[in-house]
Amino acid sequence: MLSDNITDKFNRPIRDLRISVMDTCNYRCPYCMPADKFDDDYRFLKPDERLSFHEIETIVKTFAEFGVNKIRLTGGEPLLRKNLADLISSIRAIPEIKDIALTTNGQLLKKQLPKLINAGLDRVNISLDTLNPDLYYKMSGNKGQLYTVLDAIDAAHNSSLKSVKLNCVVQKDINDKEIIPLLERFLDTDIVLRFIEFMDVGTKNDWHKKHVLSFKETLQIIENKWDIQAIDANYVGEVASRYHYKQHKGEIGFITSISKPFCQDCSRARLSADGKLYTCLFAHQEFDLRKHLRNEGSDFLKRTIKDIWLNREDRYSEIRHELKDKKEKIEMYVIGG
Ligand code: GTP
Ligand code: 5AD
Ligand code: SF4
Ligand code: SF4
Repeated sequence: MLSDNITDKFNRPIRDLRISVMDTCNYRCPYCMPADKFDDDYRFLKPDERLSFHEIETIVKTFAEFGVNKIRLTGGEPLLRKNLADLISSIRAIPEIKDIALTTNGQLLKKQLPKLINAGLDRVNISLDTLNPDLYYKMSGNKGQLYTVLDAIDAAHNSSLKSVKLNCVVQKDINDKEIIPLLERFLDTDIVLRFIEFMDVGTKNDWHKKHVLSFKETLQIIENKWDIQAIDANYVGEVASRYHYKQHKGEIGFITSISKPFCQDCSRARLSADGKLYTCLFAHQEFDLRKHLRNEGSDFLKRTIKDIWLNREDRYSEIRHELKDKKEKIEMYVIGG
């Protein structure tokens, strides 16, 4: 089918749909779901509030008509969603979708990996903030086991997946000493390690600028040890700035939402597990697609999505310092990065 390419108010097309399939998580990372705020009494979605796989498939098909060709499945923790491979198979069968990726903390990955790959998963991004098992445990809110995740990373690396990337959120005085050990472990491999600036997503993670280790500071730490060089992006709108080593094999990425925003080419939309559409990671406005899908059907859904994208003006990272009134923002665990 010919796609009806649409662009937003800043002339940005829509290419990438990120779908949270699960609002809960088996971790309680303080920068995302601090345990004191997400305790046993916290009300997560009931199963029937979550989109069914059939509803997700309908939404993906509609987005594909507007030029979306990349899907990322995320959470919370997406591997907590039962039978995720079935969803991957049905998305794989949509001809316009060329790429299906998964973002996970990796704790449950190894066992599920063969099924996910068989169903058509192309790529995986795994969070890894440290190689110190005690710090890992602490940074996961006393939930995660480092060695289980390292095993999963090895399994993913030795599989037929097209790429394995690791996401490391760096925070000053928490895990900044981990930058070099992490790089050393994956040096001379094709696993790409990316350093993400700690972001002010949501309102529950006590974000403060003083905790952010900036891109420049991270770069300095790395350049004290290795010669590295910037290389071109793989495609327009790529989130990470890419570098490679001059004397080694391997690539490093930097995700610089705080110090060097990249809104200009942002072609990403995000769907929560209960079917709300967000047009920015820092959105304070949501659009209830589930309601339209369940009450009005797919034609109305299509018109609604078109209208939302045509009116999109998001560029939060570029204007965050100008924003005076602090609005509620969507939490990271709802839309999964
Ligand atoms: P693709 O290869 O394009 O699928 O994505 P990627 O693997 O380069 O990036 P991924 O989706 O894993 O994003 C990595 C991290 O960057 C996310 O977990 C977020 O923390 C951050 N990120 C991703 N997209 C955006 C965005 O649009 N805005 C901001 N501010 N941060 C983003
Ligand atoms: N800032 C930066 N990255 C974050 N992530 C979660 N919360 C934040 C935050 N506040 C990252 C996770 C994971 C990805 C989904 O998003 O570490 O790698
Ligand atoms: Fe941590 Fe990811 Fe779970 Fe958030 S969704 S608590 S970042 S593992
Ligand atoms: Fe896109 Fe919003 Fe991130 Fe800017 S801040 S890159 S508009 S998601």
